[in-house]
Amino acid sequence: MSIRYEVLSDDNILCIRDLCNALMTYQKSKAAIHPEWFDNMSFETRMIPSVRSAKANFVIVAMEGDEVVGYAYSNICPKTTYSGGFATLAPVNFFDFDSVQGDDVGCLSQFYIKEGSRSSGIGTVLFDKSMEWLKSFESIHDLFIFVSNGNDNALKFYLNKGFKISHRILDGFITVLRNI
Ligand SMILES: CC(C)(COP(=O)(O)OP(=O)(O)OC[C@H]1O[C@@H](n2cnc3c(N)ncnc32)[C@H](O)[C@@H]1OP(=O)(O)O)[C@@H](O)C(=O)NCCC(=O)NCCS
Repeated sequence: MSIRYEVLSDDNILCIRDLCNALMTYQKSKAAIHPEWFDNMSFETRMIPSVRSAKANFVIVAMEGDEVVGYAYSNICPKTTYSGGFATLAPVNFFDFDSVQGDDVGCLSQFYIKEGSRSSGIGTVLFDKSMEWLKSFESIHDLFIFVSNGNDNALKFYLNKGFKISHRILDGFITVLRNI
């Protein structure tokens, strides 16, 4: 069956709830550093607050018939959003705010393709459309992707798409990737 791609309005994202939760479970399964931090991460605690607080959101899904087989979620946020911590660690800035041009940054925040639908090009289409949206903001120069530890396949995918490793934060829990 052929795949079609649809952009969702912010009010219409409930259909990706299960995939978002599957992404958290997947990331936990890969992580060696603080896998327990994923225990509180879900559609309700990650996706909903993020969509509500971002300046702009872009959620695109891949549909096979009536089934959502993948999604990518990107947003535009003030750079100061990316300051925080987990558990007992002191809050950190996710990146050097002075290294960013302007007040806002773009982020490919969540990305998940169902297991049986991977490695057939769906991720590349969702990635390309997400980048097209992020780059449509003339004031946004800095794009970020945050990859959790152990997710080497995703890391390789992003490096092949031109992103570069910047640094690691939170005891190595997250690798920060940038477009520049
Ligand atoms: C990372 C992820 C989103 C990529 O999506 P995908 O649909 O598998 O991506 P693609 O099929 O476009 O590309 C995957 C690989 O298959 C290759 N590929 C693409 N089309 C292909 C095809 N028709 N036949 C064979 N291989 C193909 C690509 O070259 C790519 O290789 P690379 O990773 O070495 O660059 C997906 O694997 C996924 O959901 N993983 C689990 C969740 C996850 O890690 N999310 C990221 C969190 S940061």
